[in-house]
Amino acid sequence: MKFVALLSKNLLFTEVLQQDVSNIVEACNDEVTRYYLVTLPYPYTKDDAIEFIDNSAKQWEAGSVLRWALRCRTTEEFIGVVELRYDCKFDSIGVWCAPKMRGNGYITEAIKTIVKWSVEQKWTKNNEIYYACMPQNIPSASVARSVGFKLLGAKQSHEPYIHRDTGMTYQYLYSIYAPDDIEQFSSWSEYL
Ligand SMILES: CC(C)(COP(=O)(O)OP(=O)(O)OC[C@H]1O[C@@H](n2cnc3c(N)ncnc32)[C@H](O)[C@@H]1OP(=O)(O)O)[C@@H](O)C(=O)NCCC(=O)NCCS
Repeated sequence: MKFVALLSKNLLFTEVLQQDVSNIVEACNDEVTRYYLVTLPYPYTKDDAIEFIDNSAKQWEAGSVLRWALRCRTTEEFIGVVELRYDCKFDSIGVWCAPKMRGNGYITEAIKTIVKWSVEQKWTKNNEIYYACMPQNIPSASVARSVGFKLLGAKQSHEPYIHRDTGMTYQYLYSIYAPDDIEQFSSWSEYL
């Protein structure tokens, strides 16, 4: 499928571009990012970022993972990356934010935007979108709650891993179910 650009109150959703390489390398080598996204290569190199960008274009073409670079609507400064994953049994969202851009509410706004968009396109399997994060990832859990995801419980990670620091093999799984939750989309209009 063709790339679809999106827009919200504070954000531009664009393709992930070659010009983002240094921002991606910096964000993916950040200690916090690396702690919570355990499957990232370390150290994360320029070649990893180039591969990530190339894959993003291919995944859009295949319609398997729809990934956007988030940019500040006024300055176009790089904020982070958000993605909708349609390539598994359950649709889900993944996200990370550049360290210096965290704590501004941008990620909450970005996830609301793509949840609403996905539901409106009627592409969401069973009208349900999932979000998973490690139990100690307080910012990520706060984002999930602010968006309106409900905590379903702990789930064993589908990718077999043992967290290198905690030994944990499970994450907290959240979901948002469109037929129940869609009314709250109207309360998001200040953003979208
Ligand atoms: C998770 C992540 C994307 C959140 O980005 P962010 O810019 O902090 O997100 P927002 O500003 O939209 O919202 C953050 C929420 O967490 C809260 N928060 C942030 N840091 C916190 C802390 N240390 N303790 C308690 N709450 C915290 C904020 O108050 C806000 O909650 P609110 O909406 O109820 O006020 C970012 O921390 C990140 O990139 N982390 C590393 C990668 C990662 O963990 N990705 C997600 C994997 S599941």
